[in-house]
Amino acid sequence: MPGQLHEHTPVRGDKCAIWTDRLAVRFKNRRPIGIHVGHHVLGELGSLLRDAGAGASRIGAVTNTVVAHHYLPPVIKGLERAGYTACPIIIPDGEAEKNLERVGWLCGEWLGAGLDRSSMVVALGGGVIGDLAGFAAATYLRGIGFVQVPTTLLAMVDAAIGGKTAVNHPMAKNIIGAFHQPLLVLEDLATLETLPERQWRDGLAEVVKTAIILDADLFLYLEQNAEDILRRRPESVRHIVVTCAGHKARIVAEDETESGLRALLNYGHTLGHCIEALTGYEEWSHGEAVSAGMAAAARLARLLGLCGKEEAERQRALLESFGLPTRLPRLDPEALMRTLYHDKKTRDGKLRFVLSPAIGQARMLEGVEEDLIRKVLAGQ
Ligand SMILES: NC(=O)c1ccc[n+]([C@@H]2O[C@H](COP(=O)([O-])OP(=O)(O)OC[C@H]3O[C@@H](n4cnc5c(N)ncnc54)[C@H](O)[C@@H]3O)[C@@H](O)[C@H]2O)c1
Repeated sequence: MPGQLHEHTPVRGDKCAIWTDRLAVRFKNRRPIGIHVGHHVLGELGSLLRDAGAGASRIGAVTNTVVAHHYLPPVIKGLERAGYTACPIIIPDGEAEKNLERVGWLCGEWLGAGLDRSSMVVALGGGVIGDLAGFAAATYLRGIGFVQVPTTLLAMVDAAIGGKTAVNHPMAKNIIGAFHQPLLVLEDLATLETLPERQWRDGLAEVVKTAIILDADLFLYLEQNAEDILRRRPESVRHIVVTCAGHKARIVAEDETESGLRALLNYGHTLGHCIEALTGYEEWSHGEAVSAGMAAAARLARLLGLCGKEEAERQRALLESFGLPTRLPRLDPEALMRTLYHDKKTRDGKLRFVLSPAIGQARMLEGVEEDLIRKVLAGQ
């Protein structure tokens, strides 16, 4: 696969580990970024950093209270075993922490701990920690190195790969950000065992999205193994994480700054973002909103004659088999339309949607007629 290297090797050292997969994001004229996927491999972080040539002595490990409780000790031990001085920082849990104030606070903690230009930051947690610690690392001393250690399914298949980092502004989500590529990504699938059910499903929405827009074989796999995936059987978990992380790595390598291909990853997100915004970012989780957005996009594609009934039906059925919603919440259609026009993907006042003409394919459609969108919003 272009932009990607895939090796499957037994892991060194740790007797609990079953396997590791090694992928890479391969940017042109730059060193590839290793994505290491394994089981019980958090303790390997120190040696992976050494192998990647990280000469830092101090490492600022950022995590939250929930993740620290489960997973900070092996990370710290592994870093110290490899000769690094670990400076752990634990913040409260939640999206509300992803703000500029917390970035300033983090920088103060790092200054106090003596982190300098040669130091590194480890982001241990879900997308919130990755985005926050990544953005702080991108700006501290005009940018120091960082490592993503994602512990949610969503972060493993999406947020931790690609170098997008950001914090929220009271007026908009992810509006203050930077592209800052991690030195490496370490994904320990064993951490997913403690992930709450709702977060697991949120990640599955992104997995389904990847299958719909890029990979018909993966879609079939999801249909045929839904039960195992819901039960988080290790081989199924490994298959979906490695496959989706590989797709994300390939896409961002081809389009780092989202000028074309990468925008296809927003399938279901245009309406999804509107649902999240209009329900105050609390009632509906991101994955639930994207799921309803994807089902609506499939209905729109059908109305446009772009895809057949069966294609749209398969999308709906798969999402529902994962317990994800496929109907839009009751919202004022006019408010939805207004929010749609504010979407980042709207250009020159024309509505743009990522639509899927067939499972495994996607394209951006510009200038979709309002009448059709209203029909979809009305549930037709
Ligand atoms: N940078 C990107 O490209 C990108 C892409 C998608 C989403 N995002 C961002 O990611 C964030 C959402 O990420 P998320 O869904 O991972 O949410 P999250 O980081 O809030 O994590 C979800 C919850 O799970 C807990 N948790 C994390 N790992 C756990 C584990 N292994 N066991 C038990 N609990 C665990 C967290 O403490 C939190 O309560 C949003 O802020 C979104 O904007 C960024």
